[in-house]
Amino acid sequence: VLDVGGKVYYPTFPIPDHENEVKSIPDWHARDDDILICAYPKSGTHWIWEIVLMLLRGKAERIQEIKEVAMLEGVTQAHYNNLPSPRVLNSHIYFSNLPQNFRDRKCKIIYILRNPKDVSVSYYNHHTKLRDYEYEGEWKNYLPRFIQGKVDYGSWFDYVREWHKVIEEGHPSIHVLTYEDVKKDGVNEIKRLAKFLEIKDDMDLFEGISAECDFKKMKTDKDPLEIKEEWRDGLPGMYRKGEVGDWKNWFTVAQNEMFDAVYAEKMKNCNVKIQFSKH
Ligand code: A3P
Repeated sequence: VLDVGGKVYYPTFPIPDHENEVKSIPDWHARDDDILICAYPKSGTHWIWEIVLMLLRGKAERIQEIKEVAMLEGVTQAHYNNLPSPRVLNSHIYFSNLPQNFRDRKCKIIYILRNPKDVSVSYYNHHTKLRDYEYEGEWKNYLPRFIQGKVDYGSWFDYVREWHKVIEEGHPSIHVLTYEDVKKDGVNEIKRLAKFLEIKDDMDLFEGISAECDFKKMKTDKDPLEIKEEWRDGLPGMYRKGEVGDWKNWFTVAQNEMFDAVYAEKMKNCNVKIQFSKH
């Protein structure tokens, strides 16, 4: 991981002079028609990225482009400057670490929220299965790490608290989506997203995109991101289970109670609404 100063570590990406590139992000320039998708890792960023690309193209068809080509902390500034408009960018970095120019402008920002219990399980699988992390810890030891933010991109709680402060203060152009709502009512969420992106109502298109982005379909399609060699078991895992509530298969009752107590304490001044179903 890369120490960029302050409390957050980023994963390293194979680009020249990565550390200085990341440190320069606050100086990068936004364009009026930029769209930026932001989320804590494992919240469904790849999924929403596909939906947005299809909406912009007006076609319910996947193109073989990987999200990582437009991930702020994973590319050089030169690469970023050369991406054609309208750019669909994405990032897991804190709001306060985004390019200053983005925070000042009214470019469209899509923010995704997911139940942190499911995020922790998804992130555990990400960390243990991706070879590059060289992490073999057990779940019972990982959960405290996740809670303390001792993972790349830091604490879910800090990340979400910061974003919600900005949202509650009335940032004019942040659209909030939850993983759970997209899962439950994809067509309606795609329609809401289209409205935010000023794309005309087209129910056939929205239904087509929802079907094309169904988890099973995305997982079985050949995804250029899913390079088998990168995963320990030889099974690509970026599209793992795609469910709401998988945490119940991982959390013990005691872990769940501990998590709820931490959540209540850390999020007590934050109005974020997450429906936690019972264990
Ligand atoms: P799981 O590990 O719980 O399956 P990100 O893209 O931000 O890294 O998030 C990854 C999570 O989103 C993984 O969760 C992945 O399976 C899930 N995901 C990806 N595509 C999805 C889809 N079309 N429908 C539902 N979940 C999806």
